[in-house]
Amino acid sequence: MDRYLVFGHPVRHSKSPFIHTLFARQTQQELEYGLAESAVDEFAQALRTFFDQGGKGCNVTVPFKEQAFTLVDRLSPRAKRAGAVNTIKLTDDGVLLGDNTDGAGLVADLKSHGVTLADSRILLLGAGGAARGALAPLLAELPSELVIANRTHTKAQQLAAEFCDLGPVTAQTYEQLAGPFDLVINSTSASLQGELPPLTPALIHTDIAIYDMMYGASDTAFISWAKQHGARQTMDGLGMLVEQAAEAFTVWRGIRPGTKQVLRELKRNLGVI
Ligand code: ATR
Repeated sequence: MDRYLVFGHPVRHSKSPFIHTLFARQTQQELEYGLAESAVDEFAQALRTFFDQGGKGCNVTVPFKEQAFTLVDRLSPRAKRAGAVNTIKLTDDGVLLGDNTDGAGLVADLKSHGVTLADSRILLLGAGGAARGALAPLLAELPSELVIANRTHTKAQQLAAEFCDLGPVTAQTYEQLAGPFDLVINSTSASLQGELPPLTPALIHTDIAIYDMMYGASDTAFISWAKQHGARQTMDGLGMLVEQAAEAFTVWRGIRPGTKQVLRELKRNLGVI
């Protein structure tokens, strides 16, 4: 049976085995998908051992995505742009191909919620790995403007400079931001600590779409805050998790699984519905 894994630390609570097992059932693919908790300094060896022992592919999550980038034989263009790898496939000719499906997953989830990206004004909060992975796929949707704001402004400036060949991307400080924006994407890890990015509530209006890449059994701090200030359309990162997985599954198996039912089952599993 073809074997797949997700590497991470910690990875115990990963939903990837649940998601990929449902994808495999749905598409009648015979495969098994497991978890690999790897110590931080043992990831490279664990990855090598997995593929030496016949593994077909893996996902890579926090904190190994940047390291995976350096360990594969070849990179997809989108992984190269993202500077990180979340999906590895062993090709038929024995090459370890590193890909990144996170940004594609975000865009697919936004579209499935009916969010229009073309000609929209997008505000991206954060300038870490998650923001970097999202930039090229977002710019490919031809927004009229994409503004990056980050607590450490220089990081936003660096990111904007790196991606400005792909579209109208600029960096602004939180204080400089001027609306209206059509969509705000929170790629910061602030919600993990129950914190908020320092965004003025004046930017929130009823027709704005709010996306938090984080998710939980209840609203993230950012989503609660945006709702309090009148945002009607709020989305968390659970859909992105399922969509990036569907994209990885497609890379490995050449067949695209449906995501709607799997997302519903995942929500039930998490106790969200
Ligand atoms: P990831 O790979 O998830 O993007 P990261 O690379 O550590 O993680 O980046 C985390 C991002 O969240 C950064 O942009 C960070 O801002 P700094 O660059 O100033 O550190 C941002 N972040 C984390 N906590 C935050 C908070 N409480 N308020 C605002 N931004 C925060």
